[in-house]
Amino acid sequence: MSEIIVQGYHSLKGELEIQGSKNAVLPMMAAALLHKGTTVLSHVPRIQDVFCMMGILESMGCACHLTGHTLTICARELTGVRIPEEQGKAMRSSIILLGALLGRSREAVVHYPGGCSIGSRPIDMHLFALKKLGARIEEESGVLHARTKGMKGTVIAFSYPSVGATENVLLAAAAAEGTTVLRGAAREPEVEALCRMLEAMGVEIAGIGTDCLKVKGTREFKDIVYDVPGDRIVTGTYLSAVMAAGGEAVFTRSSPGHLGCVIEVFEKMGAHIRVLGDTIQIAMAGSPGNVSVETKPYPGFPTDLQSMMLVLMSVGAGRGCLKETVFEGRFATAKELHKMGAAIIIEGKEAWVTGQRSLSGARVRACDLRGGAALTIAGLAAEGETKVTECYHILRGYEDICRDLRSLGADIWREA
Ligand code: EPZ
Repeated sequence: MSEIIVQGYHSLKGELEIQGSKNAVLPMMAAALLHKGTTVLSHVPRIQDVFCMMGILESMGCACHLTGHTLTICARELTGVRIPEEQGKAMRSSIILLGALLGRSREAVVHYPGGCSIGSRPIDMHLFALKKLGARIEEESGVLHARTKGMKGTVIAFSYPSVGATENVLLAAAAAEGTTVLRGAAREPEVEALCRMLEAMGVEIAGIGTDCLKVKGTREFKDIVYDVPGDRIVTGTYLSAVMAAGGEAVFTRSSPGHLGCVIEVFEKMGAHIRVLGDTIQIAMAGSPGNVSVETKPYPGFPTDLQSMMLVLMSVGAGRGCLKETVFEGRFATAKELHKMGAAIIIEGKEAWVTGQRSLSGARVRACDLRGGAALTIAGLAAEGETKVTECYHILRGYEDICRDLRSLGADIWREA
């Protein structure tokens, strides 16, 4: 099992282009299924979840070619509607293929999705919404078999702004007869990117970027070439790396417009940040000053940067509270940080952290994608050597975290 080794106490300096967004490209790849033609996506990140989604699309008859960071998907002829069990269970995003396949083929067979173990992650809202649009869904030993005589536009109201459920509705409504109104929609930038792509494909959508989306379905889609936005969570990860290790860096294609409250929090912690168009410049000297933060749906502080905040608060000065309100099981990384000397007390949804200014290198285990990235960053701010095991989690969402941090001066490598 491969592991990442980090020698601590090397400050960072340099410039890096941020990869395309994992959480934007996966629904965009699902959207390509709607069109009996060709979809080209640029700035596609070369990550495991993209390779997995390519495998799923190919298993249903699509032709997928990834050349560099440009992905061409031809979905002219589909040969099946069943998502292979192994790939389906490898990531959460397989569930949004339900909406796309019901829109395209009026049938889909998918297993309960996998993905990071950060909570129970039910799919009740997905199933409720698709049934309202006209799907009949039977479940047998973890396999969902969905059929429809034709999806019909309707009004749907969500009690919680679920990102995945919003994307599932968008993908089904895009090919439904009539208009669908979704109230209580998620407003994450990745949802907006999907809306903009569907618009380019020929779908009329009103309210993009708000919590009320109005989608007029179509049967005619267009060939398009579309750009995947920079990954705001990867940007936030690398901003945290500079704050933990000290130094300065410039990140291009960094989606600063989607990091509003993150930049605000990091500046409160002592980072000097400048935004110039799609570029973020950051400089950090000394230890971060501790703050209290609560994760929330967009535009609040993103839950995907919660583990990085645990690290920054652990090497910071003073005491702070980090409240996780999105996923009930997302503090697993705290246990690993304890091995490095972090002073974190978990009380229900809250993590109380007393900054130690620095940590000690240790052998720690990646429990999930973002937790693994956070432990890697903790190694930058630790005395001695840190080994992060089970780092396959990290490969799901980061093209090459060692390559990227090494380009900024970190002493880090991966051992197979
Ligand atoms: C997406 O997950 C992202 N994943 C997550 O990123 C991200 O943390 C999350 O949105 C929140 O921003 C992808 O886009 C592939 P949700 P998703 O549905 O769609 C509950 C990463 O590290 N819920 O908004 O699964 C759910 O249990 C990953 O890149 C229901 O109760 O998130 C959770 O508590 C991790 N019933 C909350 O809503 C449902 O039917 C938010 O989930 C659906 C969700």
